[in-house]
Amino acid sequence: MHHFDYRGGILHAEDVAIPDIAAAIGTPFYCYSSATLERHYRVFAGAFRGQPARICYSVKANSNLAVVATLARQGAGADVVSEGELRRALAAGVTPDKIVFSGVGKTEAEMAFALETGIDRFNVESEPELELLSALAAARGLTAHVAIRVNPDVDAKTHEKITTGKAENKFGISWKRAPAVYARARELPGIEPDGIDVHIGSQLTDLEPFEAAFSRVATMVEALRADGNPIAHIDLGGGLGIPYRGDNDVPPHPDEYAAMVKRTIGHLGCQLTFEPGRLIAGNAGILVSRVIYEKQGDDRTFLILDSAMNDLIRPTLYDAFHEIRPVTEPASGAETVIYDVVGPVCETGDFFAKGRRLPRLKSGDLVAIMSAGAYGAVQASTYNTRPLVPEVMVKDASFREVRARPSYDAMLKQDIIPDWLDRP
Ligand code: LLP
Repeated sequence: MHHFDYRGGILHAEDVAIPDIAAAIGTPFYCYSSATLERHYRVFAGAFRGQPARICYSVKANSNLAVVATLARQGAGADVVSEGELRRALAAGVTPDKIVFSGVGKTEAEMAFALETGIDRFNVESEPELELLSALAAARGLTAHVAIRVNPDVDAKTHEKITTGKAENKFGISWKRAPAVYARARELPGIEPDGIDVHIGSQLTDLEPFEAAFSRVATMVEALRADGNPIAHIDLGGGLGIPYRGDNDVPPHPDEYAAMVKRTIGHLGCQLTFEPGRLIAGNAGILVSRVIYEKQGDDRTFLILDSAMNDLIRPTLYDAFHEIRPVTEPASGAETVIYDVVGPVCETGDFFAKGRRLPRLKSGDLVAIMSAGAYGAVQASTYNTRPLVPEVMVKDASFREVRARPSYDAMLKQDIIPDWLDRP
C-alpha cells in the first residue's frame, strides 16, 4: 500500500505532482511519502495491539532524519547498528529508552557512547563483545540490559546476501552455545542478560521460517529460565517482506505475522521488540529519474536513465525487481517496447531492469522506480563522481528537500592534494 498514484494522468506523491518536484530540484531524486510511512507504522503497530510489543524502526533501511523523525512522532523507537545511526535516532527525536543497539562489530568507542547515552539495550552477537561491554559498563558504574542474539540455523528462504540466520552466517551466537554464554554473562559485572534476540533475514515472504526460528527461541527461553536465567525480553528482529510486484506479490500481512508470534511465544509472557525496516519504508519511497536516451542495440533496446546503480544498487546486488512507471500515465493501447533499463555508470552491472516491457519512452520523459524507500538512498554512493542523490519528503500538498544534492565544488573539496605534490 502506498500514496503514489496517477491523478489526471500524472504520477503524484500524495497531492504533489512528481513533475513539479523534478522542475524544482532536477533529477534524479528520491521521493518519500509521509502518509505511507505513517500508515505502515500504524498497521504494523496495530497488528500487535494487545501484545506487550514495541516497534524499534530499523534505521538502516532509510536513515534520513526526516524519515526517522516522522516515525518517532508516531511513537516508534529505533534499532541502530552504528554510532552514526544512534546519533541520527537521537537527532530525530527518538528517546534513548526506545533505542536498541544491534550489529556484529560494535567498537569500544561505539559501545561507550551508547552506554553514556543510556540506550535501552544491547543485542550482543559474540563472547568477546559481551566481555568488552561488561568491562565498559562496569568501569562507568552502569548496568547494560543485554539480549544475546542467537543464530537459530534456520533457512529464511530469501536472497543469499540477506540471509542471516544460518550457521554459516556471521550473525549471532549458535543456539547450541547459547546456554554456556548466558552462564558466563551472569558472572560478568555491569550487564544484565535478561533478553534474547533473533533476526534471520530480510524480505521474507513466507511465515514458515519465522515460525521455525521463533519456536526454537521459545524452547530456548524455557530452557534458559530452567537454568536460572530471568529472560523477560525477546527481540524478534525485522525481515517481513513487502510487495515489489504490485498485486502479484502477496507477502503475509502483519496481522498474520502477529498471530504467528502470539502462537509461538505468547505463552512466555515476555516484553517483545520488533525491528521492521523495509516493511515501514520500502513502499514509502520512489526514485524519480529522467530518460537520457533510448538506444538501439543489435538485439535489444536500452533505455538510459540519469540515475544509476550508485543511486539504487538493489537490482544488481540482490537481483531485485523494482516496478518502473512512466510519470505520465500511458494511454491504454499505447505502443510498448522491451527495454533493458540502465544508467550512465561504466559497468555492465549498472541496470534497473532487463527485458522489461514498458510504454515507449523518449529523451526527457520522467520515470519512477517504485518501492525504493528502503535500502535505496542509504546504499547510494558517489561512484563515477556522481553527486549523492537528493531526497524529498512529501506531506499532503507540500514537499521539502530533506537532503540536498551536493554541488561538485563541495564534492571535490572533500579530497586533499598532499602538499608534496605540485598544486595543479
Ligand atoms: N534487524 C536486524 C538485526 C537486521 O540486520 C535488519 C536488516 C533488520 C532488523 C531490518 O530488516 P528488514 O525489516 O528491513 O527486512 N540491503 C538489503 C537488506 C539488508 C538487510 C540488513 N538487515 C536489501 O536491499 O535488500
